[in-house]
Amino acid sequence: MSLHISLVGRKNLSVEIYRQIRDAVVKGVLREGDRLPASRELAATLSLSRMTVTLAYERLVAEGLATSRVGDGTFVSRVAAHTSSESRDRHIDGPLRAHPLWRAVPLPTAFAHHAAFDFRTGIPDASLFPSTRWRRLLVRTLRTHVGGDAVYGDPAGLPALRDAIARHVGISRGVMASPDDVTVTSGTQQALDVIARVLLSKGDRIAVEDPGYGPPRRLFESLGAKVVAIPVDREGLVVRSIPRNVRAVYVTPSHQYPTGVSMTLSRRQALLAWAERHDAAIFEDDYDSEFRFADRPLEPLRTLDVAGRVVYIGSFSKTLLPGLRLGFLIAPRSLRDAVHRAKFLTDWHSPTLLQSVLARFIDDGDFARHLRRLNGVYRERHDVIRDRLVADFSDHVELIPSSTGLHLAATARSASVEQIERVARRALARGVAIQTLSRFAASERARAGIVLGYGGIQTSDIGRGLRILLTCLAASADD
Ligand SMILES: Cc1ncc(COP(=O)(O)O)c(C=O)c1O
Repeated sequence: MSLHISLVGRKNLSVEIYRQIRDAVVKGVLREGDRLPASRELAATLSLSRMTVTLAYERLVAEGLATSRVGDGTFVSRVAAHTSSESRDRHIDGPLRAHPLWRAVPLPTAFAHHAAFDFRTGIPDASLFPSTRWRRLLVRTLRTHVGGDAVYGDPAGLPALRDAIARHVGISRGVMASPDDVTVTSGTQQALDVIARVLLSKGDRIAVEDPGYGPPRRLFESLGAKVVAIPVDREGLVVRSIPRNVRAVYVTPSHQYPTGVSMTLSRRQALLAWAERHDAAIFEDDYDSEFRFADRPLEPLRTLDVAGRVVYIGSFSKTLLPGLRLGFLIAPRSLRDAVHRAKFLTDWHSPTLLQSVLARFIDDGDFARHLRRLNGVYRERHDVIRDRLVADFSDHVELIPSSTGLHLAATARSASVEQIERVARRALARGVAIQTLSRFAASERARAGIVLGYGGIQTSDIGRGLRILLTCLAASADD
C-alpha cells in the first residue's frame, strides 16, 4: 500500500513517521492486516536512513499497533484495528451541521428489501441483462480504451454514444435529434439536476405530478425551487390546475408514474400551449416507454413541440440496469451549451468506459434485440397481472388501464389509505412486497390504491404472489 507521509518542516523524523502511521491506524485509514511499506522502501521514498524508519516501526510494534513477521513485513495488528473502530465511532459526530433541508430527504430503501414475491416498481429483471455480451464488450473496450481514458472526456458524452442515442430515439420514439442535441448523463436524476440548474433560480416554481415520482421533487427543492403539486386524472396532468408563474413542469406523459396513465393527445397539446403562453419549460421524463404492449403509443411531447420548450429525458435504468447510471437528455438548441457546462460542473462527464460499451451495444443491433426480448417477457407479466386484477380483485380495486412500462396501478374501491397501508404491511409479512399509491402523494391528496411492478418478479411467481395479496385485501375488508 502506498502510504502518504509528509515530513516537510518536521524535526524529529522518526517520531513523526510513528505519529502519522499511528493516526492513520486510529482513524481507520489503515486497517487490521494492512501491510506497512517495507522500511527500506519508505526510507528511500522519504530520502532518510533506514534506521529512522526502523525506529518508528519498532515503536509501533512495542505499542501493539503493529506486528512484525520476519521475512514477511510489518502489519497493522488486531489490537490496533479494534482501537481504530472505537475511535472512528468517537469521531463520527463533530461540530459541523448540515443544512436543515437535508433532514427532510429520505434515503432510498429499495435496496433493503428481500421479498419472495417482489412487486416493487422501478426495478428491471436483472436476470435478463445480457451479461455475456456486456462482458465481451467490456473486455474488448478495456483493451482498446485504456489510453483514451487517461484524459477527461467531453462533458456532453462520448460522440459514438450520442450518435447511437440520437438514432435510437429517432427509431424507437420518433424523437428527431442530432447527436449534438444529446447529453449523456448519470441517469434521469442527473439529467433533471443539470437542466434544473440551467433553467431555475432560487425561489422559482416548478410544477410536478401528484401523485408522482419523489426523487426529482426533492431534488428541485434542494436547489431552492418551490414545488407545486398538480393533480393527475385519467387523462394525465390536469393542465388547467397549473398556477401562473410556474417556470417549468416535470411530467411523465408516456406512462405516468405511478398511476400508469398515458397523457391524452389533447392534454399534451394543452400542456405545450400552456408552456408557450407562460414562457415555461417542460421536462419530459420518458423513463420506461420502450416497453409497449398495445398499439402505437402517442408521440412524445418533444415530437409535438414546435416551439423548443421541451427537454426530453431518457434512461437505461429500466432497459439495462439502474446500477449503470446511464441516461441522457435532449435539450432545445438554445440550452445546449449551458447544459454541457452544467454537466461539466456536476461530475465532468459520465464514465467513458461504460459509455463506449453502450455505444457498441446499440450500434451492433444488440440493444434492439434485447428490447424485443424484454418486451416479450414483460408483456406476459403485464397481461397476467392485468387479467388477475380484473378477474379476481374487482371487489377491492379498480385497475387503471395501461399498456406501457413496468408496472400497473389500481385504485381502492372503498378501502381507505390507512387500510391499504395495512394491507401492504400484512402482505410484506407474508413475503409479498407491493407499493401503495398514497406513498407517491406530492400533497395532502393521498389516494388509496396499489401499484404492482413486474420487473422483479418471475412470471411463474405472479399468480401465487397475487393470491396472497388478495387474501390480505379480503382480510382488510373484514377489519
Ligand atoms: C418516473 C421515473 N423516472 C426515472 C426513473 C429512472 O431514474 P434514473 O434514470 O435516475 O435511474 C425512474 C425509476 O424508477 C422513475 O420511476
